[in-house]
Amino acid sequence: MTQRTLAIIKPDAIGKGVAGQIIARVENAGFKILAAKMIHMSQAEAAGFYAVHRARPFFQSLCDFMTQGPCLPMVLEGENAIQRWRELMGATDPVKAAAGTIRKDFASSIEANAVHGSDSPETAGVEISYFFSSLELCPR
Ligand code: CMP
Repeated sequence: MTQRTLAIIKPDAIGKGVAGQIIARVENAGFKILAAKMIHMSQAEAAGFYAVHRARPFFQSLCDFMTQGPCLPMVLEGENAIQRWRELMGATDPVKAAAGTIRKDFASSIEANAVHGSDSPETAGVEISYFFSSLELCPR
């Protein structure tokens, strides 16, 4: 089943200068990048994106982290894209991430964990439209 997912290269990875290496992994895994842009989120924008986590103890720290510098949201398309992108990312906590995954190789902590990926088709739809209009997606 062809799916779309929302991926974000987070501020820690942009700051380390590894965005290109992460995009290479995306392309080498066969995903089509339908849209991508560099943005610097405000507190309100980060809080809106992570609204589902607003009751968590790490919420304010997460919003501070996501606004510390630019990030790079992307729309990826491919067969079973949601699950496959999550496998490529590895576990949320880099200590638990498998060898060869993006988080194992590039993440610093459970918070500064280099990349984001949608966790379900419903979430992917909401997250993609949070950052991109339909006119910004380039199917091919
Ligand atoms: P992400 O996949 O973008 O979804 C929610 C984010 O919250 C997660 O990646 C981490 O960046 C962050 N996060 C999750 N769990 C924790 C935690 N226990 N402490 C701090 N940040 C966390």
